[in-house]
Amino acid sequence: MSPGPGWRRRGAQWSALAPDAEAMRALGAEVAAVLRPGDVVVLDGPLGAGKTTFTQGIGTALRVRGVVTSPTFVIARRHPGPGPALVHVDAYRLGTTVEVDDLDLDADLADAVTVVEWGVGKVEGLAPDRLEVRIDRPTGAEPGAEDPEDPSAGTRTVVVRGIGPRWAGLVLPPA
Ligand SMILES: Nc1ncnc2c1ncn2[C@@H]1O[C@H](COP(=O)(O)OP(=O)(O)OP(=O)(O)O)[C@@H](O)[C@H]1O
Ligand SMILES: [Mg+2]
Repeated sequence: MSPGPGWRRRGAQWSALAPDAEAMRALGAEVAAVLRPGDVVVLDGPLGAGKTTFTQGIGTALRVRGVVTSPTFVIARRHPGPGPALVHVDAYRLGTTVEVDDLDLDADLADAVTVVEWGVGKVEGLAPDRLEVRIDRPTGAEPGAEDPEDPSAGTRTVVVRGIGPRWAGLVLPPA
């Protein structure tokens, strides 16, 4: 694993670098440490940014069962664990507002940590308090942007912003 330089605060935002997928999972695990049942995390960023990879780190930290993958054929998948379950939602194909009914889950989201990929602009009604995580790949001449051997490789930036009273005073760990 290649750890990044840790989380840095910029105003109300926390940002970190993930040089590779393992580092992205480590960042997910660090965010998982501040999550409680009922929390909603909204992941944003382009195709292949690393949203599912980040969610894998959350799943590992919560010690949930099952492999966290892109929930391609379902909108949401629930991974039970010894603590809060992980509800992993892919809102890509949900056109507009996401309602709890759309998720087709038997369980109550209050007992789970819910992570929604492509949820920006869709889950705000479901989750007035939420942690927004924006993942980007550097473009252009930035270091790590291009690897001709593996076009999906490269450092990602991760920016976390807490919205609502639940997230006042959010602190993420430095390296
Ligand atoms: N620094 C990095 N951080 C995260 N993933 C990386 C990194 N470098 C390479 N990768 C690779 O990039 C891919 C990211 O895929 P992932 O499915 O996590 O993205 P996604 O944002 O969920 O995509 P989608 O928009 O299709 O849901 C994985 O194959 C991962 O191994
Ligand atoms: Mg994904």
